[in-house]
Amino acid sequence: MNSFELNKIAGALLGGALAIVAINEIANFAVSPHYPEKAAYAIDTGNAETSTMAATESPYEGPTLSALLASADAEKGKKVFKKCGACHTADEGGKNKIGPNLYAIIERAKGSSAGFSYSDALVAKGGNWSYEDLDAFLKKPKDFIKGTKMSFAGLKKPNDRADLILYLRSLGSEAVSLPSVN
Ligand code: HEC
Repeated sequence: MNSFELNKIAGALLGGALAIVAINEIANFAVSPHYPEKAAYAIDTGNAETSTMAATESPYEGPTLSALLASADAEKGKKVFKKCGACHTADEGGKNKIGPNLYAIIERAKGSSAGFSYSDALVAKGGNWSYEDLDAFLKKPKDFIKGTKMSFAGLKKPNDRADLILYLRSLGSEAVSLPSVN
């Protein structure tokens, strides 16, 4: 082997080494983890940060109270009222029982049945029994008025509440117009 050949070999080795370094650099550059601030497409991991789609979609809430009232059935409501009858009368001049008389209850001031001893919580709530307030109260009394002494779990079904409210309206609250459906 003469020196020329040695030079060639050395050159080849050096060239090879350089090539490896170069490839390594390029490879490093190509795969170097420069992560973008935000992934181009979100992977739904189920946590709130990535599932923005679900957050922008409004959750299904069902028909509004006004819509339910517009198609409610007072006759059915009369049957629902049987659940209330143990504690309430709802006829004109009816007596207070465990609960106050409910005649003309819609838009009646809260806690205003004469001679009934209300809880402080109910009196403190204040305002009138609007359709919305009645609906919320009847859904879960203790949620709407924490500390109420009305021991009633509530009516889960929106339709039952609407039927019942329409029935109560027919007892002295006919003059209170139904909420408009928009
Ligand atoms: C176990 C007895 C009981 C049952 C059942 C019951 N209530 Fe009551 N209700 C009460 C009591 C007691 C109060 C007074 C609550 C207070 O002072 O915190 C009350 C209060 C109310 C009030 C507020 C009245 C006002 O003058 O401010 C409304 C409205 C009402 N009840 C409607 C109903 C309806 C409708 C039902 C049936 C779905 C029902 N309640 C079932 C005992 C009952």
